[in-house]
Amino acid sequence: MNKKTYYITTPIYYPSGKLHIGHSYTTVAADAMARYKRLQGYDVMFLTGTDEHGQKIQRVSAEHGMTPKEYVDKIVDGIKKLWDLMKISNDKFIRTTDDYHVKAVQKIFKALYDKGDIYKSEYEGWYCTPCESFWTETQLEDGKCPDCGRSVEKTREESYFFRLSKYQDRLIKHLEENPEFIQPTSRRNEMINNFLKPGLEDLCVSRTSFNWGVPVTFDDKHVVYVWIDALSNYITALGYGSDDDENFRKFWPADVHLVGKEIVRFHTIIWPAMLMALDLPLPKQVFGHGWLVLDGGKMSKSKGNVVDPVILVEKYGVDAIRYFLLREVPFGSDGVFSNEALISRINSDLANDLGNLVSRTVAMINKYFEGVLPEERQTGEFDEDLKNILVSVKGKTEELLDKLQFSTALSEIWKAVSRTNKYIDETMPWVLAKEEKNRPRLAEVLYNLAESIRIISIIIQPFMPETPLKIWEQLSIPEDQRTWESAGSWGVYRQNSPVKAGAVLFPRIDMEKELKSLENLNPDTETEKEKQEKKEKSVAGVKLVTIDDFAKLDLRVVKVLSCEKVEKSNKLLKLIVRCGNEERQIVSGIAEYYKPEELVGKKLVLISNLKPAKIRGIESQGMILAATDDKAGKLVLVTVDGDIDDGAKVS
Ligand code: ME8
Ligand code: MG
Repeated sequence: MNKKTYYITTPIYYPSGKLHIGHSYTTVAADAMARYKRLQGYDVMFLTGTDEHGQKIQRVSAEHGMTPKEYVDKIVDGIKKLWDLMKISNDKFIRTTDDYHVKAVQKIFKALYDKGDIYKSEYEGWYCTPCESFWTETQLEDGKCPDCGRSVEKTREESYFFRLSKYQDRLIKHLEENPEFIQPTSRRNEMINNFLKPGLEDLCVSRTSFNWGVPVTFDDKHVVYVWIDALSNYITALGYGSDDDENFRKFWPADVHLVGKEIVRFHTIIWPAMLMALDLPLPKQVFGHGWLVLDGGKMSKSKGNVVDPVILVEKYGVDAIRYFLLREVPFGSDGVFSNEALISRINSDLANDLGNLVSRTVAMINKYFEGVLPEERQTGEFDEDLKNILVSVKGKTEELLDKLQFSTALSEIWKAVSRTNKYIDETMPWVLAKEEKNRPRLAEVLYNLAESIRIISIIIQPFMPETPLKIWEQLSIPEDQRTWESAGSWGVYRQNSPVKAGAVLFPRIDMEKELKSLENLNPDTETEKEKQEKKEKSVAGVKLVTIDDFAKLDLRVVKVLSCEKVEKSNKLLKLIVRCGNEERQIVSGIAEYYKPEELVGKKLVLISNLKPAKIRGIESQGMILAATDDKAGKLVLVTVDGDIDDGAKVS
């Protein structure tokens, strides 16, 4: 038997701290592809893992008072738990500290050296420790790391170099002749024009300034520096360079490497050059996806502005988070992550559209037919249109998924969900149910709804590992009626037992309440050391600040010009205040304590240099101060004692 194979990889992640939602993004996307290809009958190899060597890991582990191995073991444990939680179906997990990997990397390094593609020389340049990147003088921006803006150190040391320059012409040729090799296309042009055409410099591939890495066998003060170690994982994981390379022969070359945009360069220049040097075939495709950013910029472990996927999954369920990640942003573009966007997706697409469709259908089959649809049925208006749309979803989804267009694929599927919901409005089963003579028609309408749901439940499997099972339970859809193939046909559903209402698939979320509770969750990323330091700087548990800290706040007296309630909210008031010759709009959660008309004319205190924020879609340009007594459930606004013009500074 010769099944077609499919090999997909994620980057191997640095276990330098907890992973955030941005990392889950790549892994969830790869998982959706792996599940999809398995459903289509491919023999799939889905690889993920961890990139555990390097100076940064060595430094971070020392800060935690651990050896690098002790430290990464702990973090890797957490990463594996996260992937379990996110229902990641990887076939293999590689750690670059795994023995077989270390040995294979040593072999690769030696082979390249023997061939003359690695040679010894001296390195001089600038090094950014947090980013683990070398920069040449011209690459620096204002003398700082062009990636993160932090200071760099001048380094000069003996190093081994990989003859990257030798492969320049072959690389340009490969990229030009294989438009599919780098996707999206914009990244391909960037590689050709910004990196390949200006000319490649040989690459420094060993270090002597730290020792947490794979030792160079023939020169043991050197360790293999980052890329040869890390990139090789894609073949060592398959057994390349070991006694058992069966998987390598079966799965290589990879069908696609999924990577974030900042490492496209390494995967489309260094990696193919390494493979050329090893006389190995190149991967078929490298797909560079965009970043999930927060309002304030890129999520980053070192900046501490991360979103914890564990918290989100525990709150809303794995399917909702996976759906959001793959639906919200076109794969390839950058996208903004916000709690508000997440909750509104869950409420509209999942609770409303899909969840309601299933619960209404099951409820109606129960109510009108005691859970079992009769054989006697009668077709009618709207059936043909519904059927045509539903049987075409599979093909459309496949076409889009083959291009890794997760978001458009989901939006196609959701068009079918909406079409099915519309069919309920068009046929109005509750009206049909009023007359006995309409029963065959009513049965057909409900059958068509169940059949549509059957198709949808099959097609959403790559994205959502849990929901399809729940739907099959409720509608009692047996195994042979839920094969991937069967999603392209109509009329497959044969009930083998009565439908049974189950738990609500996606409970509706109260946006306002939930946003508050999410804001209060401060993911605990402090180390013991930081906690100790904090304690020392506080009095009776209250943190001390300096006069400089206080001076950062610009507090002003403002006069309330007008005030009204925010629609559909019983907590929020919108105020227009005057601050000297400037007017500001403020949204404040004080509606339970003050009537709008009570506030007009009052003089309050405003933090005027607070970053504007959107609350319920309304911009709030600052915050007014209030005193609260939680126990007594009281809140009073801070006012000034005496007459002073608005705009006056409070200090
Ligand atoms: O780069 N949004 O590891 P890494 C989307 N070890 N993707 C994000 C993201 C975000 N906010 N933050 C990170 C490395 N990523 C190397 C890879 S591969 C041989 C070696 C993505 O842990 C990022 O773009 O820093 C990258 O693809 C991946 O997470 C791993 O990042
Ligand atoms: Mg990175």
